[in-house]
Amino acid sequence: MNDFDLIVRDADIATVGDRYRADIGIRGGRIVAIAQSLPGAAAEVIDARGRLVTPGGVDGHCHFDQPTSDGSKFADDFFTGTRSAACGGTTTVIPFACQQKGHSLQEAVDDYHRRAQGKAVIDYAFHLIVSDPTPHVTQQELPRLVEQGYTSIKIYMTYDDLKLDDRQIIEVLAAARRHGAMTMVHAENSDCIAWLTEHLLAAGFTAPKYHASSRPMAVEREATHRAIALSELLDTPILLVHVSGREAVEQIHWARGRGLPIHAETCPQYLFLSAEDLGIAADDPLHGARCICSPPPRDKANQKFIWNALASGLFTIFSSDHAPFNMAGPTGKRVAGDDAPFSRVPNGVPGVETRLPLLLSEGVLGGRIDIHRFVELTATNPARLYGLYPRKGTIAVGSDADLVLWSVFEKGQELRLAHDMLHSAADYTPYEGRSLRAWPALTLSRGRTVWREGRFLAQPGDGAFLPCQRPHAPRTSSPLDQWLAP
Ligand code: URP
Ligand code: ZN
Ligand code: ZN
Repeated sequence: MNDFDLIVRDADIATVGDRYRADIGIRGGRIVAIAQSLPGAAAEVIDARGRLVTPGGVDGHCHFDQPTSDGSKFADDFFTGTRSAACGGTTTVIPFACQQKGHSLQEAVDDYHRRAQGKAVIDYAFHLIVSDPTPHVTQQELPRLVEQGYTSIKIYMTYDDLKLDDRQIIEVLAAARRHGAMTMVHAENSDCIAWLTEHLLAAGFTAPKYHASSRPMAVEREATHRAIALSELLDTPILLVHVSGREAVEQIHWARGRGLPIHAETCPQYLFLSAEDLGIAADDPLHGARCICSPPPRDKANQKFIWNALASGLFTIFSSDHAPFNMAGPTGKRVAGDDAPFSRVPNGVPGVETRLPLLLSEGVLGGRIDIHRFVELTATNPARLYGLYPRKGTIAVGSDADLVLWSVFEKGQELRLAHDMLHSAADYTPYEGRSLRAWPALTLSRGRTVWREGRFLAQPGDGAFLPCQRPHAPRTSSPLDQWLAP
């Protein structure tokens, strides 16, 4: 009888706090031993030969097979989305069970489980999107669902079918506070966007590049500040998602300085794309739509600012916000036609597979952040924030054997990123042609090899649903509780 199912020998292990060479012993999908020369027999041995090994990525923000209201369809379902994640070194994803207005949260959760069941190839948890916070939702459904392991809630300050007003946001924050859930906020001022959009369209400015004009930085800055104020009022933490530039970062910095529990996320599109990408001249009038996402990519100075904030520790997590819509066909970016105005183009860019290689290449190997910060942003912190740590997000005895063994390329030997290398069903990558200095050689998900040297090896249904722990204790003993009714 073997001591281990698998030993990964001579791994150059990087975690948030350590870097050392060791063997990793795996049994039953978990790491059961780490030692310099692990004795004992194994059914399989992978010789890492001193390769860099990091925890499998935890992507805390991605959209697969999410119902939409404009006739569009996300390009990836749970199979193609998780396949793409695994091939890029991500072993846990957290997409969104989205409540439709007039419907219950439970319906959204049940529907989303049906969509994931038998399809996911890596483990997954769900965030909840609350679009209709009725008393039934905040007082009955949310407490029950948090108890069952759905412990994070996304709310929107924009998008007509999802947005909440301030009073509704307060109701959600009060429930999150009471039950120990984490609230994720999409911060953009909806009325400003509506007014700007109306005037841009009336003046004939309909091309994709005007998407950025309709959602300028001030719109995000104002909503970021408002979300922080509401979080302070309710004495409960929030995470500002997909932060795009300097002025939103300044608000977060200010809030942290006041000791407020404000977390922040940024995404590859704010480091590697800019507003110029929306306006690239091409025969196809919708060419720039490939980079339409919200908030929009900003200018180069803002990119630099986001890099600095990533290095300085301001950002808690780095997620893909993978939201893939095809450029070809009638259900993607062209759902409103080949000449559609920017306001009718579905928002989002693909990126679940390229998230880790881009950050490792340009962040770590480009000298902007160290490997420990890379692990923290892409695996450990998202696992902690969403109640999956230490099962996910680290390399330690007792943790799931979710590992990435990296190929690192010397300068001059870079890999050129091309869409046909990728495993999403999206028909393009906005990062086409970029030079990469790293790509996963091998990804292990609970000890199973799911990606090895160019071959995808997992089966639909190999991934399991992960109930999440509460990310913070329910709050019941601050001055607010003397008069805040349950
Ligand atoms: O443009 C984006 N970010 N699309 C995905 C939905 C969201 O708001 O995160
Ligand atoms: Zn959002
Ligand atoms: Zn998103």
